[in-house]
Amino acid sequence: MMTEKVSILLYDDEKAKAVRRFNDGRSPKYLIRTYGCQMNEHDSEGLAGMLEEMGYSPAENVQGTSLVLFNTCCVREHAELKAYSNVGALKKLKEENPGLIICVCGCMMQQEGAAEKLMKRFPFVDIAFGTHNSHLFPGMLYRLLLKGERVCDMAAPAQDIIENAPARRAGPPCAWVTIMYGCDNFCSYCVVPYVRGRERSRQPEDIIAEINRLVGEGYKEVTLLGQNVNSYGKDITGADFPALLRRINDETGICRIRFMTSHPKDLSDGLISAMRDCKRVCRQIHLPVQSGSSAVLARMNRHYTREDYLALVEKLRSAMPDIGLSTDIIVGFPGETEKDFEDTMDMVQKIRFDSAYTFIYSKRSGTAAENMEGQVPAGVKKERIRRLIEAQAAITYEKNLGCAGKAYEVLAEAVSRRGVSMLCGRNGAGMITNFAAPPELIGEFIEVKIIGANRYTLLGEII
Ligand code: 5AD
Ligand code: SF4
Repeated sequence: MMTEKVSILLYDDEKAKAVRRFNDGRSPKYLIRTYGCQMNEHDSEGLAGMLEEMGYSPAENVQGTSLVLFNTCCVREHAELKAYSNVGALKKLKEENPGLIICVCGCMMQQEGAAEKLMKRFPFVDIAFGTHNSHLFPGMLYRLLLKGERVCDMAAPAQDIIENAPARRAGPPCAWVTIMYGCDNFCSYCVVPYVRGRERSRQPEDIIAEINRLVGEGYKEVTLLGQNVNSYGKDITGADFPALLRRINDETGICRIRFMTSHPKDLSDGLISAMRDCKRVCRQIHLPVQSGSSAVLARMNRHYTREDYLALVEKLRSAMPDIGLSTDIIVGFPGETEKDFEDTMDMVQKIRFDSAYTFIYSKRSGTAAENMEGQVPAGVKKERIRRLIEAQAAITYEKNLGCAGKAYEVLAEAVSRRGVSMLCGRNGAGMITNFAAPPELIGEFIEVKIIGANRYTLLGEII
């Protein structure tokens, strides 16, 4: 199906203005809590942008806010339970301040029946909506504020693309830019295709225009976002991901380009050469392996084998020896034997990823794996993830120590959590580096020599 593009002023502009008029003189505050992935973080930037158009400004804490918005995730049960318990905890706050507006949105709400269930279970929630209709949030807020109606709204086709939405980004210097929505892969454990809909790619011109706008606002780096960026452009004519990278490299003034996430089955030679040729494209790739066992990968519906993945890493590293490589790994997928798990451990030792996000398999309703035989007992899963985390942490630490004495160009992104006199940023390969520098240098590219390391980050000094 071809994507229907909505390039008119996307969100409910008239309603946003009406809410702003209503809010005039009240200076209301908002607070957004985001769960899950970068995609959700970026969606929250859009929601924050809408709220600011409606006269809201950011609150420092939950006590000082007039509106709380939870942007939920349902990829794993843990995130879901956490969101439920955090929404539940607002009951007391609402009793103390009945004017507080509580809204819940995101992937969890997009699951069938979930929003209705939430509204019933938590009668103090005012508004619930899904991932497909967030641009209609101003209209929902309007109904609540001016008509006093609770709103539970999921209605909107999943195939639209919303252009020209407001956003309140965290940067400069770094910004997320969505290049495509949805996922068609249906990995057997994953709920994303059900809550985010089919793949829809934005037009290259719209992406390039957005990046050039960001350059004008002082941004230096973009991370292109999509559930599977390698299938970008399959639904529009004359576009694919390597070509998009080349165009962004040549037609925008952005200094650095990163992207995520890449599916191994779609990673083409064309992408490897585009990464190698384009100076502004960082040599970093997030390439989820999920398991080191071909039998498990087949049941996960991943469409590659252990050998395919190893060969792909070999190809990437021979084209770009300095490439940063991170991954996602799931332990305890249904039917995973001790031998399968050892294959994953072996893969981790062979490849030596720079870092890995590790997950315990979580059964998700409606997915193909939900009813698979051989669900692994919780104790076994915990023991396996402990071993995996330990092995990967040792590798990350060793690799970090191995950087001592090397020099990197780091984009100073923010004040470091290590202290006010330190800044943090990443090198081209994506390694987080802390170094002593004044805050005026945020947004600058700085040559840094590595003088130390700890488990997850590098310590450097300005050369
Ligand atoms: N259980 C555990 N991990 C999951 N992921 C996705 N679905 C599940 C699930 N049901 C992980 C995958 C994916 C990452 C974003 O989350 O590793 O790459
Ligand atoms: Fe989920 Fe697989 Fe799509 Fe990633 S590629 S979002 S794991 S279905």
